[in-house]
Amino acid sequence: MDQPKVVLGVSGGIAAYKACELLRRLTESGHDVRVVPTGSALNFIGEATWSALSGNPVSTEVWESVHEVPHVRIGQAADLVVVAPATADLLAKAAHGLADDLLTNTLLTARCPVIFAPAMHTEMWEHPATQENVATLRRRGALVIEPVVGRLTGVDTGKGRLPEPGEIFEACRSVLARGQAGGERDLEGRHVVVSAGGTREPLDPVRFLGNRSSGKQGYALARTALARGARVTLIAANTGLPDPAGADVVRVGTAVQLREAVLKAASDADAVVMAAAVADFRPARYTESKIKKKDGEEPEPIALVRNPDVLAEISADRARPGQVVVGFAAETHDVLAGGRAKLARKGCDLLVVNEVGERKTFGSEENEAVVLGADGTDTPVPRGPKEALADTVWDLVSRRLR
Ligand code: CTP
Repeated sequence: MDQPKVVLGVSGGIAAYKACELLRRLTESGHDVRVVPTGSALNFIGEATWSALSGNPVSTEVWESVHEVPHVRIGQAADLVVVAPATADLLAKAAHGLADDLLTNTLLTARCPVIFAPAMHTEMWEHPATQENVATLRRRGALVIEPVVGRLTGVDTGKGRLPEPGEIFEACRSVLARGQAGGERDLEGRHVVVSAGGTREPLDPVRFLGNRSSGKQGYALARTALARGARVTLIAANTGLPDPAGADVVRVGTAVQLREAVLKAASDADAVVMAAAVADFRPARYTESKIKKKDGEEPEPIALVRNPDVLAEISADRARPGQVVVGFAAETHDVLAGGRAKLARKGCDLLVVNEVGERKTFGSEENEAVVLGADGTDTPVPRGPKEALADTVWDLVSRRLR
């Protein structure tokens, strides 16, 4: 396949320097990138940097190389337009169809997916004018990534920071992959909840009972849902992974905390996917101070009590009619029979069953599974990236939502 053509729009905010890293990642992974900065973006990072990093000419105005009609051609030829950072002014222009420079012209002529990664001060982000512009752009199908909370220019902090370039890059990759597969944004307007990672049940201030789940499959589900247009709440249990750009991430530790976060987020969700490895048991007693070994004495056995089964609970008591609930099952043997029995026991609509072992699945970049439906169907997913399994899950969820 030809190199995917990406237009990187850069508008005039201090976060423009982070777009250099995004550009580097895009070019290194085989994308043909044309950088289109606004005039004010050049106050932060000059043309020479964009040109050298992209290996392509850089222009900001429609008056350069007029014979090539760049204001139409660049947008028409693009497979993806990503604007990072997108200032409040740029979002306003895009929402109203203004076209007074090369970037805004490109946005009007592009027929490919468009991603905006806004960055600005909290007040500007929260202003009703900006919020209405964002809503307009989303309604028209653009993916507008929520800015993150953190340090802004100077000493102030708040919501408005550009997500890390690596995460914007992942969003670009997911959207491009979706576009190449002929995929539509079939989760537009939907709210989905994904749990990921593994719970930890504390024994004392320094010890816990945990499991080997990395959270990668859940994060892949969150990313692919974002690329398909969904609003995503990711309930992350003890993961060391960067927040997927655009997801609302809630961090939890134990099964009880996870239950609370899932129930709250599920109240208005169209789908809930329980990819987290939730501990079935927790220590009956938490010891306030560190448990010490005593010379000549055997250790005390650890008594356990049952944790709530979140998947069974949300399946039995749906927060809204038609809500689709998906569970995961890790089995070491009798994979299919065990999966069918578990699907029935939990009462969910879909159960993703994979075989686990020391070297299988945990922490790996790939996964292989079969997705069982409560309607008796089964969909095998061959070994491949966790994103591919995630997309199969969303295909099945999307069909059920329709
Ligand atoms: N799960 C949950 N709450 C729990 C335990 C599990 O919501 N307390 C969810 C997981 O997120 C997963 C699914 O249930 O989606 C399957 O978990 P698993 O531990 O395999 O199910 P169990 O019923 O505990 O199976 P087993 O018989 O192997 O213990």
